[in-house]
Amino acid sequence: MQPRYSIASIALHWTMAAAIGAAWLLGQLMEDVARGPDRIAATGTHALVGIAVLALVLPRLLARLLGGAPPAEEGWQGRAARAGHLLLYALMAAVPLAGLAIAMSGRAPFPVLGLFEVPPLLAPLGLRKLLEGVHEVLANVLLGTIILHVVATLWHAVIRRDDIAARMLPWLSRRSPAGAPR
Ligand code: HEM
Ligand code: HEM
Repeated sequence: MQPRYSIASIALHWTMAAAIGAAWLLGQLMEDVARGPDRIAATGTHALVGIAVLALVLPRLLARLLGGAPPAEEGWQGRAARAGHLLLYALMAAVPLAGLAIAMSGRAPFPVLGLFEVPPLLAPLGLRKLLEGVHEVLANVLLGTIILHVVATLWHAVIRRDDIAARMLPWLSRRSPAGAPR
């Protein structure tokens, strides 16, 4: 029985967790920067980190499919965990895609730190305001789901004292088979 996720899945999980956290914070902070070159740089940094998240979704799905996963828990907790993980996968793609759609909806190309520009391919649709709302709502739903996900992990680690957390945090000591109460 596979005790934990593959090294590739674990590395991608934590790289993406850090990148999503950084993108979310930058998204909040950049709103307070005065319009001008600093705001353009802050938005470009936010977009670059967000595009990195999007670029890692496919490798992550491949790592999960090829590297396998520890067995799911039985009962409602297993079903809730699976539903939550599916929602996280959907949102980690949908949030940056909505961001990219905003970047494509301006009147001019969207600069990303002088590295490249996102062309205004969706400008004729006139959906920028709507897409900004969609991106904001989805980003907040992602944050809420991540908070629930972290609370569930803490519940396993502190209250149930089983080894679910060690599946993704292999440096935590494991004293019993994965998923079994200690
Ligand atoms: C995981 C990835 C991402 C997260 C978590 C995220 C999160 C956020 C958040 C929290 C905001 C502030 C929303 C508000 O309060 O109005 C925001 C705004 C924004 N994001 Fe993202 N974002 C991501 C990816 C992207 C990408 C890939 C792009 C573009 C290529 C992008 C472009 C934008 C733009 C242009 C805004 C400003 C919209 C406005 O003025 O209302 N985002 N994002
Ligand atoms: C401090 C933050 C986090 C902690 C402590 C944490 C912890 C964990 C743990 C322990 C698991 C294994 C659960 C199990 O096997 O049942 C897991 C899986 C997972 N985590 Fe996180 N996580 C965090 C952040 C995130 C973030 C930011 C995301 C992305 C949106 C995320 C997405 C996922 C997904 C999709 C899985 C399921 C993997 C699979 O079975 O395919 N996690 N996480």
